[in-house]
Amino acid sequence: MALAAGVDVGSTQTKAVVIDERCAIVGRSLTDTGANVIRAAEQAFQEALQNGDLREEEVEYVVGTGYGRYKVTFGNTQVTEISCHARGAVQMFPSTRTVVDMGGQDTKAIRVSADGEIVDFCMNDKCAAGTGRFLGAASTALDIPLDQLGPTARRGERPVKISTTCTVFAESEVLSWLGKGKKIEDILLGVHQSIASRSVGLLRRVGVEDEVTFTGGVARNVAMVDALNERLEHRVNVSEESHFMGALGAALFALDHILTSRVPAGTGGS
Ligand SMILES: Nc1ncnc2c1ncn2[C@@H]1O[C@H](COP(=O)(O)OP(=O)(O)OP(=O)(O)O)[C@@H](O)[C@H]1O
Ligand SMILES: [Mg+2]
Repeated sequence: MALAAGVDVGSTQTKAVVIDERCAIVGRSLTDTGANVIRAAEQAFQEALQNGDLREEEVEYVVGTGYGRYKVTFGNTQVTEISCHARGAVQMFPSTRTVVDMGGQDTKAIRVSADGEIVDFCMNDKCAAGTGRFLGAASTALDIPLDQLGPTARRGERPVKISTTCTVFAESEVLSWLGKGKKIEDILLGVHQSIASRSVGLLRRVGVEDEVTFTGGVARNVAMVDALNERLEHRVNVSEESHFMGALGAALFALDHILTSRVPAGTGGS
């Protein structure tokens, strides 16, 4: 059985997924993108192979996606991350009509039709205030690891109102609230609420339709899931695979290529 792979080279993290012909994930990996983007792509792919105990020769086709998709030097082709996140989301949650991808640098809102085609999309321009980078700034300022931001914010009761609209000032605003004696939990709850409000603004620009699927690394953050649920009239779908959704979508496009380029039995050769 042939295997297909997707490598999503994001601005912050690189994800690789290998799937079999039944679309089941058989290998995956996650690594920081860092300064050497080509190496991150290679490393993620090799680690996904190791993770699934797979051989590189078994993988027939590789699709690169994400901002660094052209750095997937071993890839066969590239597909935009908008298409890949939508494809992965529809695979996981077939009734998906709206996708919100929150990554390290960008937040994207995507609307898809009933048959999974992209109808419209938009993303935060220039400003990273509604993205994982804002969370990264808060994490640094408060010295709380990324995976603890959500659980800590969930304990907040009186969220502070974050007024900065710029990530550059996020750290100093967080520190100034700390200086005023606010609890870390309440500051973080405020940070999550501020990011969620911006993301919902973006979603409304493409039009929110049920079901909404949340993808990207920030979907691992439970407080962000809560904050989006509070602001949307629909509950968002999240899965264990949310962070890998773009890579999964890329792998599915790779599998399409393998299956459509196969010569039907009885028609090939001479
Ligand atoms: N364990 C975790 N818990 C909570 N949040 C996390 C965790 N791991 C990563 N994140 C969040 O996910 C972000 C990275 O997400 P992702 O990998 O989707 O971004 P990216 O694809 O590199 O960026 P972009 O799509 O903007 O180019 C981090 O900035 C962080 O906020
Ligand atoms: Mg991304």
